[in-house]
Amino acid sequence: MLCFSLRREMACWMWTLLLCVLLVVSGAMAAAPRKPVDVPFGRNYAPTWAFDHIKYYNGGSEIQLYLDKYTGTGFQSKGSYLFGHFCMQIKMVAGDSAGTVTAFYLSSQNSEHDEIDFEFLGNRTGQPYIVQTNVFTGGKGDREQRHYLWFDPTSAYHSYCILWNLYQIVFFVDDVPIRLFKNSKDLGVRYPFDQPMKVYSSLWNADDWATRGGLEKTDWSKAPFVASYKGFHIDGCEASVEAKFCVSQGKRWWDQKDFQDLDGFQYRRLRWVHTKYTIYNYCTDRVRYSTISPECKRNRDI
Ligand SMILES: *[C@@H]1O[C@H](CO)[C@@H](O)[C@H](O)[C@H]1NC(C)=O
Repeated sequence: MLCFSLRREMACWMWTLLLCVLLVVSGAMAAAPRKPVDVPFGRNYAPTWAFDHIKYYNGGSEIQLYLDKYTGTGFQSKGSYLFGHFCMQIKMVAGDSAGTVTAFYLSSQNSEHDEIDFEFLGNRTGQPYIVQTNVFTGGKGDREQRHYLWFDPTSAYHSYCILWNLYQIVFFVDDVPIRLFKNSKDLGVRYPFDQPMKVYSSLWNADDWATRGGLEKTDWSKAPFVASYKGFHIDGCEASVEAKFCVSQGKRWWDQKDFQDLDGFQYRRLRWVHTKYTIYNYCTDRVRYSTISPECKRNRDI
């Protein structure tokens, strides 16, 4: 009898364990974007300016951007895209990077432009980088968030991804969502949906604002400043610059239900980042903004 009930208890326990494992696995998998595919730089990108400040390694599978007192440099995607998944692996400027900004962003090319920004603000040796994100819709930005990272972004490559579809924009750092911007059209907030964007990246001097609000200046005796890149993954709906919709809309993986919202696991990680690493959030800045943007509540940013 004892044996019987013990066995039953064991079985019950095993089932519970299995259920837990299944829940965790499905919870973790539900909305994790597809794994980025590493391709050489030239497949998706071309230099924009100061071509001689970009260096290529291993057939262009890895590149380095150089910033010196003469110029920074940058590159852009060959194609324009309406929605997709865009990733880059970046190793930020090591050592004294104060005053430098490394950027990775999507932008449309017209006057009332849309833009989705990652900006990495350098710092003095040993002091923490800041990742600043912003979203412009119809030419209006002023939606900055600033976070510290939970690792040193200069010591190794880390992956930075933007997922953009009709429902949400998600900024990922190593698969951790650090920022969510949901489509809040119903609240009267413009959302980027009909202007194709190109992907850009650049390294430049911004010592008038980047580090401690401009107090720390770029130390040119430490130049050149070098940021390294690999990955160059783009999985987007390629469109002509004038296109108003994406031909394959609704049929791509990022259009599907799993990617229309974060899952519970991702919300928990987003909250972890926001609780532990937030330096600034426009959603809580009552000094700069007398009225808080309607999308803030929806984004669960507060
Ligand atoms: C640079 O380091 C200082 C001191 O630790 C810190 O206050 C600041 O947030 C850091 N980052 C930037 C980009 O200013």
